[in-house]
Formats: sequence, structure tokens, C-alpha cells
Amino acid sequence: MHTSYNRSSESSSSSSRSSSSQERPVRVHILQAKMDASAIAELYALIDNQRRIPKNSPFQLELCGKASDADIIVSNVRMRKRLERHLDWNIARQKAIVTPQWLRDSIQQQRIMPCGEYSALRELHDETAKNCPDCNLPSCDCTPSLATVGSTSRVSADDTMKLVTSPRIFSNYTARYACLRASPLVCPNQALAAELGVLYLHRDLEGKAVNALGYQRAISVLKAYPRVITLENFDTEVRHLPYIGEKIQSKVTYLQHTTSSHPEVEQIKEFIRFGVIEECQTIRASERFWSLKTLTSVHGIGATTARNLYSIGLRTLEDMERYYDVPVADDGTLKLEEEEVIYTPNGKRIPRQARLPDLSTKAALVLRNDLEASISREEVEEMHAVVMAELEELQPGCVSTIVGGYRRGKLQSNDVDIVFSHSDLRSGGNQVKGLCRKLVQRLYDRGLVTHVTHLSGFHARDAMRTSHWDSLEKALTIFILPSDGTQKRSHRRLDLIFAAPEAYWTGVVGWTGSKMFERDLRLWAKVEKGMKFDSSGITRRHDSKKFFPKSELEVFEFLGLEWIDPTLRNADI
Ligand code: UTP
Ligand code: MN
Repeated sequence: MHTSYNRSSESSSSSSRSSSSQERPVRVHILQAKMDASAIAELYALIDNQRRIPKNSPFQLELCGKASDADIIVSNVRMRKRLERHLDWNIARQKAIVTPQWLRDSIQQQRIMPCGEYSALRELHDETAKNCPDCNLPSCDCTPSLATVGSTSRVSADDTMKLVTSPRIFSNYTARYACLRASPLVCPNQALAAELGVLYLHRDLEGKAVNALGYQRAISVLKAYPRVITLENFDTEVRHLPYIGEKIQSKVTYLQHTTSSHPEVEQIKEFIRFGVIEECQTIRASERFWSLKTLTSVHGIGATTARNLYSIGLRTLEDMERYYDVPVADDGTLKLEEEEVIYTPNGKRIPRQARLPDLSTKAALVLRNDLEASISREEVEEMHAVVMAELEELQPGCVSTIVGGYRRGKLQSNDVDIVFSHSDLRSGGNQVKGLCRKLVQRLYDRGLVTHVTHLSGFHARDAMRTSHWDSLEKALTIFILPSDGTQKRSHRRLDLIFAAPEAYWTGVVGWTGSKMFERDLRLWAKVEKGMKFDSSGITRRHDSKKFFPKSELEVFEFLGLEWIDPTLRNADI
């Protein structure tokens, strides 16, 4: 694509990279940033299918979990700035960084296409052309690339986007703690993880917590496994991974969540052979499973309530509407009760009462279509901007981070989580709580928040009662953007977390997730470091001394962990 691009290179030569006459497979790393799940799955599948090519073929590609170990990086990122969030520039310059089309064409033609013609970044065109593994191609310039400039980027509190996850983290996939592993949004074994996810959900809905956790752990380990699982590597490597098919012994057995019932190794094997797990087929065909899944889809209905409702005969949402006596309008649509929300004909909310309405199960049922729909990144950003503008009116100069799935790179979120702080906020004297309440009230008065599901002190005082622990306050709300006249707006779940400045970074780490990452972070802190970690701070267990890291990196360093980018904390399905 950039064949006419000026090749005059500023780079002088350094060490020469022996480029392939294919004595080993060409290692390809898929950089997931700016790719949606289906694109990632497609690229993995392309490389996976290509395993069937005879071993002596000159054309062999291999998935590579570590960008720094790869020969070729497939990327949708086109801008240096954006790329640097994921990859050190000096490493980038030693690779061929190509668009996904390079992979499609190479597979189709069964040869390494000239990388320079598929260069993903203009700025790296020359390096990409030079670093292309197949230098026999006429279009490839074989001058070796330069990798000299040593820039250790300065790290400040709000600079974590520039931090690069160490290659060691990528080779750490056998580690027991998710907070030591790199877990991408979509992994090479995503379909297997999703199938085990059905078994997890089934156990969870049936209240079999220990068994459910076993599957959750297995999924979490698989999310970090960098290669497509085959019968071969299953026997040599996968079955020896932690929590997969082994009885946990020694040190770990006394930990609260350990289980002796692990997902059957046979179930994973079954999946490798047949692409499905028989028990999942049975579960998917079960009425009880679908009913419990449906009933728990209503916000506020957990598995236990769902099982109780099921046992008295409820099966569908319509059953629930009757049971909860949801009023139906003349046209058959469900309506919110009069006292809950009133709108003017052009959609503006009429403020009437000071008390913020709770989100009752009844209201959750009425709003369920809105609340079930996923939220695009654009809308998340718009919601954030609207909330920040309102907050600015109350207290200028607040800082905030959108956390949760959005921060981990999810293209579609189920809700929006934002952590806020202000350098003047003090932990004591209800300041954090006060600002949170004021914001929620203001959003409600503006018609932006329609319901509040939870508004209270987040953290109990510490056991010793030696100090106040009012550093965090959260409000779980239902939010709706004002109509811009062109599109219908939906109600969204919005979690607002207010932190005193000293608790801001633990708040950000604690709310970025994913859930298994957080669970293992707490476990790691407790078992390996003698610390208690939670969103409101870090406490040393033996003397209750509190620590408040001044950046997100400091949270990791303090707990003796290497930095892991938020997009690699996807330790759940
Ligand atoms: P979410 O449930 O919002 O999940 O919790 P998510 O990862 O953002 O994904 P979506 O929203 O389904 O798209 C976000 C993180 O906040 C923490 C959890 O650990 C989770 O990782 N969290 C959530 C808490 O610490 N406390 C809570 O009460 C809720
Ligand atoms: Mn979320």
C-alpha cells in the first residue's frame, strides 16, 4: 500500500537479524488494540488453521504471545502515539508491523507477503520493510534495523498509558495468580473459555459456588495461555497448568477458595476433539438453566432469588411482571409507576421530589431492555464528559478515570464505572461522601440520573478503629443521556466512585478489574505480602499500617508486582 513511500532511511546499520529461510516458524503477534472481538478471533483462526500445513513446508506461522518475541506484529493501530500505549517504540522499530490484510493475503497465497506493502504505520514503513522475515522478496530492503535510542519514559501519576508490560509477564502464564499473568481481552482459546463459561454459569446459578469458582479459575488460566490448545500441547503443557486437572496441594490448599473439584480434563479434551462439550449441550437444552438465566438478567435478582422464584413456578419475564405487579399501559407496554419518573412531552424530566428513588425490581423489569443493552465506547465517553461537566460546576478541578471493562479495552460495556477525586478532598468529615451525594442529587435534578440503587459508605471502619476510613464512597445509579433529537437514548447503569486523593489509585486499580484479576490481587497481597488490598487502600496485616500509593504503578510496585496494562487484566471470560 505504501509502495511509493520514500524509502530513504535515516537508520544506520547495527546487528543483523538473521532472517528466515524458515528454519523455524515465523512468529506472529496479534496486537488487539483497536480490533473487535470478531476480528481478533478471525486472525487467531487463520493462524490456527494454518497449523495443518505440513511441517516441512517453507511457510509456517506461529502465534506469539509476546510482541517483543515476534517477527511480525499484526495491528490496526495507525498512529505512533497510540501504538506506544501498547508497545515500546524501540521494540516496534525492530519488528515488521503490518495490517491484518497481510495475514489474510499471506495465508491465502501461502507465502510471507512483503511486509513493507502492508505497513500499519507510515512512520515505521522502512523498518517494517526491512524487518520482513522473508528477505528473498524483491520488494524487501534488507538493511538491518536500528534499535538504539534509549528512552526510559518518565512515569507520573497519570502517565500509565505509556507504561509497557514487561515481556516476563507474557511468559508467566503458568503462574497461580492472575495478577502475575497477561490476560488479553480475547485469547487464542476464546471459544474453549466461552464453553467453560457455560459450565461456570450453570454452577453459579445452581448455587454451587466452589464448583463455579473452579471453572472460573480454569477460564482465568486459559485466558493467559498464549497458544491455541491442541491435543499435543494439552498433554505436554496445558494439563499441568495451575487449576487445570490437578489436585491443589501444599501451600495453596488452606486458601479460602481452593477446591479439589477441578474442571474435568476430559471436558477440555472433548472440546479440542469436537469443538463442544457435551454437558454444555445438555445445559443449553435445559429449561431450568434458561429460566434461571432469564430471571437473573433483571438487575437486582441474584441466583438465590431466581431459584426461589423458579421453585414457586416462575419461568419467564412475563411471569415476573405478573408476580411483581408491573403496571401495563393501554398499548401493552410496561410503564414506570407515576411517582417514579415524570417526563414532559419533549422528554425532559420534571423535578419533583428531593428523595432519590430506589431502583426497585419493578422498575428494573420495566427498564430491562435498556439495561441489558451494551454500551459503546463512544457513549461511555459521552456519559463521562456529561458527568464531568456537572461535577465541574460543583467542584472545579476534579480528576477522574473511567474504569471497569472500558478501561480493559472492551468495545461494549454492560455498565459505566468512573472513579473521581479532588486534591482538596479530605477523608474525614464526610467530604468524600458529601461530594458524591451532591453530584448524584445534581444529576437527578437535571434528569440525568433517574434511580439510585446504592448510596452509602463503601468501607467499614478498620477493625482496630484507629482511624477514620471514609476514603471511598460509591453511588450506583441509573443514568440517561439527554436526547439530542436524533437518537433514542437508553437508561444505563452508571457507578460513581468518589475517593479521597490518597485512595484514588487503589480505587482505580480495584475498579479496573476484571473480577478474577482483583480476586487474585487480594489473595496475592494477603498470602504473599501480608497485606490487605482493597479499593480504599493497602493495610499491612500485622500492624494495620496503611499505605497510599501515589500512582497506579506504585500500587503494583508496592505489592511486589510487575506492571500489567489494563488491557491485559481480562482474567475473566
Ligand atoms: P463491573 O461489574 O462493572 O464489571 O465491575 P466490568 O469488568 O466493568 O464489566 P462490564 O461492566 O460488565 O462491562 C468492575 C470492577 O469493579 C469492581 C470489580 O472487581 C470489577 O472488577 N467492583 C465492582 C468492586 O470493587 N465493587 C463492586 O461493588 C462492584
Ligand atoms: Mn463495569
